[in-house]
Formats: sequence, structure tokens, C-alpha cells
Amino acid sequence: MSAPAKQIDDPRWTRVDEYAARKLLTADAALDAAVASSEAAGLPPISVTPLQGAFLHVLARATKPRAILEIGTLGGYSTIWLARALEPGGRLITLEYERKHAEIARQNIDRAGVGDRVEIKVGKAIDALPSLTGPFDFVFIDADKPTTTEYFEWAVKLARSGTVIVVDNVVREGAIADEKTNEEGALGMRRFLDAAGRDLRVTVSVIQTVGGKGYDGFAIAILR
Ligand code: SAH
Ligand code: DHB
Ligand code: MG
Repeated sequence: MSAPAKQIDDPRWTRVDEYAARKLLTADAALDAAVASSEAAGLPPISVTPLQGAFLHVLARATKPRAILEIGTLGGYSTIWLARALEPGGRLITLEYERKHAEIARQNIDRAGVGDRVEIKVGKAIDALPSLTGPFDFVFIDADKPTTTEYFEWAVKLARSGTVIVVDNVVREGAIADEKTNEEGALGMRRFLDAAGRDLRVTVSVIQTVGGKGYDGFAIAILR
């Protein structure tokens, strides 16, 4: 997927990200190794930031999850944060199209000691979703952006009342609010928000984010 062309940034965002991470996050060899091995293998540097990983962990933990679904594994960085939020005996299924990404993720997830809880399904997420059995307590959607509307529909189908669904990259440096945008990711997210706003099964919000990954945002939904 192509990144947005113009870089919106402010040095304070990175400084605050680094400051808060230094204050709040403890050194974590498994997460550091996941980042390093993903970079060494040439995976794109598009995983969530450390503070975003902790944020996802907090949200997931609040649902007392016995089952988590992730769409878009990459090197397993967000997967590790989420797997650590599972209740004892809980399971996480993560869907990844690229075999190479899945192989790197497998190593990173096993090294983090959560491999027994995590299943990686390789292939197009849209093909795997119909074979899954819910309910999932928490869902993180972070794969190909144009298909987000379909992934969200599946997430709702596989959910229960109270399930929390988080969607990454909905703001795209503000492109979501630009009706003239040609960026396929932003167009995908505009279509997703159109559908979500009409969907009486869910309450949804968007929270804009700045920091180590520039200007973007999450959608967060809960099943009524
Ligand atoms: N959640 C990860 C980042 C995921 S990046 C993290 O924060 O650590 C997006 C991933 O989605 C990439 O690995 C990409 O290969 C994968 N992807 C793209 N299209 C896909 C599809 N159709 N089905 C499943 N995965 C897909
Ligand atoms: C891209 C994908 C992501 O999931 C992300 O968080 C940032 C960028 C991309 O494909 O450009
Ligand atoms: Mg993302």
C-alpha cells in the first residue's frame, strides 16, 4: 500500500512519544527482538508504536478476552501485545497474506513465549474469515485498507455484545476528511465510516493520534 505523499509532523509529537514511553514502558527483550528481526528481514516499518501497542493491550484486557482476532500480522509486534492480554487459556487468531511476514511473526511470537496461544493463518483474510468460529471478545483490523468495510462486517458477525473492535489507520494524515482524496487507503476508510455510521449494531468513535508514526488515528467500536 502506498504511503500518503506529504509528511505532516511536529517534533513535539515524537518527543512526547519518547518521553511517555520512557516513563511508562519497561524494557522488553521480546518486543525489541520482534522489531529488530522484522527490520532485518526487510518488512515495512508499519507496526503500531510501543505506546499504541500498550494502548491496544489495555483496551483488549478490559474485555477479559478469551478469544482475540487480528487481521494483518506483519512481524507479530501488535500480536504479542494482544496475546499478552488474553485470559488464561485464551486464544488469538491472526490473519496474514504474506508467507514471509507470517514466518517472521511466528519466530517473534514464539520468542515472546505466547506461541502456544497464537495461530497464524496464511492467506487472504477475506478467504479465512468465513471459516472462523466466534465469538471474539476483541478484534484488531490492520491489513489492506480498501477491504476494511468487509473486515468490519465479519468482525461484527463474529462478535458478541460488548466486543470491542479497533481499526488502525483511519485518519491517514487527515485524508479521511478530504472528499477529493485519491488515496486508496483513505477512500477505503471513508467507505468504512459511511457504513459504520449507519450500522445500528455498534457504537463507534474515531480518535486521532500523533507521535512516532505521524498523524493518523484509530476507529474504536463496541457491539451493543
Ligand atoms: N498489525 C501489525 C501491522 C500490520 S501491517 C502491527 O501493528 O504490528 C499490515 C499487514 O497486513 C501486512 O503484513 C500485510 O502483508 C497484511 N495484509 C495485506 N493484505 C492482506 C490481506 N488481504 N489479507 C491478510 N493480510 C493482509
Ligand atoms: C501502512 C499500513 C499500516 O497498517 C500502517 O499502520 C501504516 C502504513 C501502509 O500500508 O502504508
Ligand atoms: Mg496499521
